[in-house]
Amino acid sequence: MLGPEQPAEVSQPAVDRMVADALAAFAAAGSSAELKAARLAHTGEKSPLALANRAIGTLPGTERKEAGQRLGLARAAVQQRLADREGELSAAELAEQLVAERIDVTLPVEIAPQGAPHPITALIDLMGDVFIAMGWEIAEGPQAEGEWLNFDALNLGPDHPARGTSDTLFVAPIDHHMVLRTHTSPVQVRTMLDREPPIYVVCPGKVYRADEFDATHVPVFHQIEGLCIDKGISLAHLKGTLDHLAKAMFGDDIETRMRPHYFPFTEPSAEVDLQCFVCHGASVGNPDAPCRTCKSQGWIEWGGCGVVNPRVLLSCGIDPEVYSGFAFGMGIERTLMFRNNAADMRDMVEGDVRFSRSLKGMAR
Ligand code: PHE
Repeated sequence: MLGPEQPAEVSQPAVDRMVADALAAFAAAGSSAELKAARLAHTGEKSPLALANRAIGTLPGTERKEAGQRLGLARAAVQQRLADREGELSAAELAEQLVAERIDVTLPVEIAPQGAPHPITALIDLMGDVFIAMGWEIAEGPQAEGEWLNFDALNLGPDHPARGTSDTLFVAPIDHHMVLRTHTSPVQVRTMLDREPPIYVVCPGKVYRADEFDATHVPVFHQIEGLCIDKGISLAHLKGTLDHLAKAMFGDDIETRMRPHYFPFTEPSAEVDLQCFVCHGASVGNPDAPCRTCKSQGWIEWGGCGVVNPRVLLSCGIDPEVYSGFAFGMGIERTLMFRNNAADMRDMVEGDVRFSRSLKGMAR
């Protein structure tokens, strides 16, 4: 490039060279950015052609006209070639971009990441459905519950150890006698107080106990409890109902047994066990093949049950001479553990959607 102080050459060979240089630079430019640099160098204000053009004014008249024409043609030729090259390069770049950014619009897309119902929710629904199919109803109640409804009405006297602060979470101030319900049985009390028998309800929901947080305990968990009050209800109805629920949960092969127990609100009371679904009882008395799941007992505890204590009926305004009933309750987390091999209860509260997805569709 000529410096501004040097006289610019405007002869035909000199102008031809400038044009040839410009065209060569345009041809060599492989991208819009390179072409821009070539354009500034060969058509910009300080380009040889611009300087030559500016020098025309200093020439004597005859030469000026000729040089003017020569430079006019030269610059027009350069501009034309520049425009052509710009067109070529942008077309090539567009074609490249179209290939690079190509998307297959026929591919299926996940519009939003999909969650899954929480397995506890799904299992509550499933267990509820078993009862709805038999004509029962679902009842719900508050989680912060009156102490009387949670304990006294259920024949858990003031001295019952479960009322102590070690098991029960009290809501401050303590003289308001509110607790976080330790079981869903107060919902059954509310139902009996509200309605006349016959009563067939299941009460699922969250319950609270001052418990450890480990693989088999969580301080907030879920129960489902059932209550039936009608004329002529006996232990046999309870056994039949529990067997039906167990089969619906674990399959037709499941064996259950009732083992005598004590609950203040039922009499007689029992714990309901499931036959161990790992060893099916084969580990009992067989030290060569111990079973970790049932600790070689052959059975695992599922829940509690019994015939409703007449004292409970009386506190709820139901005549025990006319009506009798049964009640049962079991943990949903435990049921999920047994049913779906969910070994660690902590997975059930951590809210990782992968856990929910892994049990998706378990409901049926
Ligand atoms: N309410 C008892 C519990 O929380 C379970 C139960 C319900 C037992 C009904 C007997 C009858 O453990």
